Amino acid sequence: MPRVFIKTYGCQMNERDSEAVAAQLVARGYTLAPSEETADVILLNTCSVRDLAEQKALNKMKSMNGVANKNTTGRTPVFGFMGCMAQSRGQKLIDELPDVDLVLGTQKFHRAAEYLDEILNGGREKIVDIAEEKDSEATIREHLLNGAGGAKKSVSAFVSIMQGCNQYCTFCIVPYTRGEERSRAIADIVAECRELVSRGVKEITLLGQIVTSYGKRNIPARDGVSAFVQLLEAVHEIDGLERVRFTSPHPKGYGDDLIDAYARLPKLCESAHIPVQSGSDRILKLMHRGYTREKFLGIIKKLRAARPEIGISTDIIVGFPGETEEDFEQTMSLAREVEFDQAYIFKYSPRRDTPAADMPDQIPQRAREERNHVLLQTINEIAARKYDNFVGRQTEILVEGPSKKNPARMTGRTRCNKIVVFDGSERHRGQVMDVRITRAGSFTLYGDPAILE
Ligand code: 5AD
Repeated sequence: MPRVFIKTYGCQMNERDSEAVAAQLVARGYTLAPSEETADVILLNTCSVRDLAEQKALNKMKSMNGVANKNTTGRTPVFGFMGCMAQSRGQKLIDELPDVDLVLGTQKFHRAAEYLDEILNGGREKIVDIAEEKDSEATIREHLLNGAGGAKKSVSAFVSIMQGCNQYCTFCIVPYTRGEERSRAIADIVAECRELVSRGVKEITLLGQIVTSYGKRNIPARDGVSAFVQLLEAVHEIDGLERVRFTSPHPKGYGDDLIDAYARLPKLCESAHIPVQSGSDRILKLMHRGYTREKFLGIIKKLRAARPEIGISTDIIVGFPGETEEDFEQTMSLAREVEFDQAYIFKYSPRRDTPAADMPDQIPQRAREERNHVLLQTINEIAARKYDNFVGRQTEILVEGPSKKNPARMTGRTRCNKIVVFDGSERHRGQVMDVRITRAGSFTLYGDPAILE
């Protein structure tokens, strides 16, 4: 039985793709290796969104040149690149790193087992497959549950609802690495969710590059309700499911039907990760984002009116080409105005073949770093205040399992997506329960199970 080790870089979609590949390999008789040293197959699932992520994966592959000697299997492992960097670099990866055996593009994850079998059986030496494949959006559907790899039952699962992106933000490589936007059928997604719930899952996060564009081209709106909200409604119906989330939406997808969904669908958790990218209208336009600062602020206002407790997080890019001090100040003031619960800040990284890479007035690295630092400080101060506000309050959590940092404690999540660590035990796993928050740390709350009258 070949042992496979998969390392994932980048976003939650990559995590999900890796899980689907792992599940597919397990179904074909592979086992999951706990480390690269004990693996017969090492796959790196790569990210191309920033240069740093690409360099990390490339360096990892280079550093594994010597792994064959250390490997307890005594054999040279099969090395593979999958995902976005595999898609954008293709054969070049093998030309530059001759130890690489497999390059698997973003529409080919479901072919991993077939190709690895061929390589392991000596039928083919090297395989590069980065072609487009019709209906590949429907192939990310297997899950690792019920003890595979020694893991305990998952309480929370991610479900891929679509692939690709048509937004073409000028900074972003994703439309070129993940292709055109393609959506799965509502019935298929609901069937997958039902299956997960029947296996003990309590919370489902619907996943896609821009989930609010789900089904735009093939599922007509019904009485002003978009395809995405129809999907939310259908998933919401599933008995035994406690919570529904989604990530990531696009600000332009917040029509009244989605705002309304928060008022109508109680399982829909009050949390949203809405990438704003910049607070300056001029930069938003250069980025091709399709909304203004005012529009974004309006959405936040409506969401907070519908669900006052809503937790809001975002992505922000600093140092986009042409970003002046004034533009940056607009982003700072937006951050202060919205008071995000969490924000991921990215220093602009030029990506090949994207329009922004050729724009004038590229911002020097030093200035990008400086802006990153200044914004991060403000974001963290605001977030710390928001977390502190929870101390003394009682709140509902869904218990996910032992805390990674301290396995003697359990961890759960509030509906507004904050992690809560508390003294508990395995019997709490999967329970929806109330805790009283006693302390706030950095992006973590600490609680006591509340004793109710
Ligand atoms: N440079 C820096 N950050 C980027 N992101 C996407 N492309 C780039 C880039 N070229 C960020 C965006 C996006 C997040 C996933 O990564 O903020 O929302």
